[in-house]
Amino acid sequence: MLHVADHPLLRHKLTALRRRETDSAHFRRLLSELGAILTLAALHDLAETTTTIETPMQPMDAPILAAPEPCLVAILRAGLGLLEGARLVLPDAPVGHVGLVRDEATLAASRYMLRLPPELARRGALLLDPMLATGGSAIDAVAALKEAGARDIRFACVVAAPEGVARFIAAHPDVPLHAAALDARLDPRGYILPGLGDAGDRCFGTEA
Ligand code: PRP
Ligand code: URA
Repeated sequence: MLHVADHPLLRHKLTALRRRETDSAHFRRLLSELGAILTLAALHDLAETTTTIETPMQPMDAPILAAPEPCLVAILRAGLGLLEGARLVLPDAPVGHVGLVRDEATLAASRYMLRLPPELARRGALLLDPMLATGGSAIDAVAALKEAGARDIRFACVVAAPEGVARFIAAHPDVPLHAAALDARLDPRGYILPGLGDAGDRCFGTEA
């Protein structure tokens, strides 16, 4: 199911991220801030319990997470930009990496690396990638997480295309999808319109 996060600050930062004139340093900072906000949105329903603590004033029953924090998993390269902000929210979460790159002609994603933390089954995972275009990269990354034993998986992206959303939900109907925006469509080269261009290149200053 697709959830489009609803917050004026998120939309404001996304507009700055989309602007052609936003340079790489600013782009990275914005992506990190969006990573923190999207992490909060994607994990809004984590199970809680209570524990008894003492404040400087008196004892109280106070809420805590019922299970350990979920692992964070970044799809390389652009997911690293979101990961920075996600780690501000979950500083103790183990981190995994899935390296995926799209073939520019076929748009098929191919996996070139996979390093996942050992506790996926116990913790669940929040998968991060700013762009959901054809959906191929996210679909493959979720399949890798499932093969590694993850059960509670969530996916957070910044911009989603309707084509990718439909493919992702068909492939992984059990994985909630959180986006900052649902854009109009893909262009013939598989780029999202209006989108924000090539997220990896803008993040790492590798534009041609
Ligand atoms: C981009 C983006 C996503 C993927 C989305 O990565 O960061 O991972 O494309 O496209 P899809 O939904 O059609 O699979 P890219 O392959 O350009 O690699 P990069 O992040 O290393 O630049
Ligand atoms: N990957 C990107 O970085 N941008 C797009 O618009 C589509 C795929």
